[in-house]
Amino acid sequence: MILGAWNQELGVPEIDPNAGLDFGAPVRIGDREFRWREIATDHPLGRFSPAESFDETSGVWALAVAIIDRPQAGKVRWQLGSDDQAVVSVNGRVVYEFLGDRGWGADQGSGEAELIAGRNVVVFRTGNSSGPWEFGMAIGGTDPQFAFLEVDPSSVVGLGAFRERGLVGDGDAARGAELFFAAEGIGCAKCHAVGKQGSADIGPNLLGVGAKYPRDELIRSILEPSNRIFSGYEMTIVETDSGETIQGVVRSETAESLVIGDAKGERITIPLESIVARERSDQSAMPSGLEKGMTPDDFADLIAYLESLKEDSP
Ligand code: HEC
Repeated sequence: MILGAWNQELGVPEIDPNAGLDFGAPVRIGDREFRWREIATDHPLGRFSPAESFDETSGVWALAVAIIDRPQAGKVRWQLGSDDQAVVSVNGRVVYEFLGDRGWGADQGSGEAELIAGRNVVVFRTGNSSGPWEFGMAIGGTDPQFAFLEVDPSSVVGLGAFRERGLVGDGDAARGAELFFAAEGIGCAKCHAVGKQGSADIGPNLLGVGAKYPRDELIRSILEPSNRIFSGYEMTIVETDSGETIQGVVRSETAESLVIGDAKGERITIPLESIVARERSDQSAMPSGLEKGMTPDDFADLIAYLESLKEDSP
């Protein structure tokens, strides 16, 4: 979402990430009212040019806000560029500030930020003195638990771009299959088998999924996994007496132990006597943010592949 652009002399509105941002409500800055609008970019590093969205582009600020939902807390890497000024906060804490003038470069700043489980709010205040106006930021998926998601070309402002790109329906299913089964990268096959291809069973076998859901529902399954959870694959969170927390899908349970399949696609056997707490989560065990390892074109290919998975395909 983006708000702006207003004269820098008017100052900046307080954005309290904990106050439940209402993007429908106008924000007063000086004697003017501004409204949030949705923005998206399919540039691999989230590069966006606000100049096209606003009439005033000299000596101005605009605010871009991205909400990132994480199934669990962890450190992520970020990288950004700006022409000109940039002030960036993650959950209310300033992680980057540049107040000079410069041209855009993809990696003018980088660092690590702590994300919490659930809703995280990234606020990017982008300023322009004069001339071209651009900003961009990419946030990685480097939580140790999702280490296989390390490639992160997508922008934090781009979920809509993935949805739109996926809906077009011109993807290359063969290429989508390659992405799905690639050992490195987005890692679908670490959790899913398709028919007799692959053996992972952390998530359901996806043979027939193309007949089961229309395209927009397939898109939703990936972009918002917790929106609808396939029964029998809810996430369980277990705490052990050594203080360890293990989460994933329960694959089997005996009188002595519980076997959980985690986000890396590994099976962990936990002796029942070591378990001090156990709860069901309403979050999917399929991580959100998987699209961050893809370009929108990759995503379209992946959707085309899922659509091709009818019951009678090989
Ligand atoms: C860490 C394990 C994991 C990874 C990685 C993963 N998934 Fe999933 N997926 C699951 C689980 C568990 C479910 C069932 C729970 C749910 O519906 O959210 C699921 C559900 C789904 C569904 C809905 C199935 C149905 O019948 O309702 C689709 C489609 C899907 N995944 C596709 C993908 C694709 C494509 C990728 C790669 C981009 C992927 N998944 C990566 C674990 C994973």
